[in-house]
Amino acid sequence: MNAKIAALGGDGIGPEVMDGGLRVLSAVGDSVGLEFEVRSFKCGWQYFKAHTSLWEEGTFTACKDWADAVLFGAVGWPGARPKRWGTYDGSVILDLRYGLELYVNVRPVRLLPGVPILLNKKVVEAWGPDDVDLVVVRENLEDLYFGAISTPYPTDKTDVQVDERTTSRKGSSRAIRFAFEEAIKRSVKGGRRKGHSPTVTCVDKSNAFPGCALFRDVFENMSSEFKKIPTMKYYVDAFQLALLQDPARFDVVVTPNFIGDIVTDLAALLQGGLGMAPSANLGDKKALFEPIHGSAPDIAGKGVANPTGMILSVGMMLGWLGQRTGERKFSAASEIVESAVAAHYVSSSIRTPDLGGKGKTKAVTDSIIKHIK
Ligand code: NAI
Ligand code: MG
Repeated sequence: MNAKIAALGGDGIGPEVMDGGLRVLSAVGDSVGLEFEVRSFKCGWQYFKAHTSLWEEGTFTACKDWADAVLFGAVGWPGARPKRWGTYDGSVILDLRYGLELYVNVRPVRLLPGVPILLNKKVVEAWGPDDVDLVVVRENLEDLYFGAISTPYPTDKTDVQVDERTTSRKGSSRAIRFAFEEAIKRSVKGGRRKGHSPTVTCVDKSNAFPGCALFRDVFENMSSEFKKIPTMKYYVDAFQLALLQDPARFDVVVTPNFIGDIVTDLAALLQGGLGMAPSANLGDKKALFEPIHGSAPDIAGKGVANPTGMILSVGMMLGWLGQRTGERKFSAASEIVESAVAAHYVSSSIRTPDLGGKGKTKAVTDSIIKHIK
């Protein structure tokens, strides 16, 4: 059995963490007897500066028609892109999400034993691994990112912009349904901490925005379909506070696109920071896996980016391939990657600077690979 993977490193630390992810993929493939055919593609804003195109020719077609799954690093580079007044000029990640119809973005938030939470450079112990095990399900194809391109008032475009925000019953329904189904999966597979029942929490700003009110209406209707699953509802402003005060309260959280973007960077604090956080962009047929962080220009080129979010994204990809193909080896490989990451943080003291250490991307990756073998 083998699988075809399109690898898009992108800008800044994207290619650096991609290197770690691909080395882990190859190591776990060797250990369970899977072969991965990997094709790498250059893309992003640094690429655009040199080639006036956002990606190498054939990238999108390969992601759509050749690959079984896509691995993505990050895109974005200061000064490489003209300011976006008015017209939509393309975005690698948004065009992939849209073009492959990846309608839901799944972001697990788990604090692993041995991972420090640093606030103001000091380790805080307000939250422990028992408190943090939730997953944010973010609608991925609507809202401000795809608002039919901003519509300027008839005035100087640099002074006034109107961002359109579309929310549909169809788009909201498929994300919210995914969230309820995820809650069921987490409860039956024992993926949830003992003694906690599954819940789905809707986070929106339905008191202020009609689009959010529609999202919440869909949520309320669907909760009567999934009667056995308790639900909670929060406005996003109050949710941010509740999340930090008592993260153990939350299991599956479902949000509109923009709210999910913001909530998950804050939630990443609870798992040790942006470098620790993986994600999956899923559709009915296609999938793309990426760490939630960006290209981190401030640390790019130094070899110190934390590869864990990327490596855990590889783990999620293997799990998805297992579900899709029914091939046990993929699911086994997914579990091995997760366990190797967990074992690294328990038994090794190598940490990248974001976690307070002096370790390099390569050293962390090597240590995780040691636990695979
Ligand atoms: P960022 O996530 O790149 O960085 C925020 C902070 O977190 C920085 O201090 C960075 O050093 C740190 N950080 C992020 N990932 C890390 C890792 N793996 N290890 C250690 N430290 C890490 O967000 P920022 O600075 O807001 O954006 C930088 C660029 O990335 C922008 O051009 C932005 O548009 C782009 N971006 C791209 C995304 C994507 O491709 N999906 C997502 C978010 C931002
Ligand atoms: Mg973000």
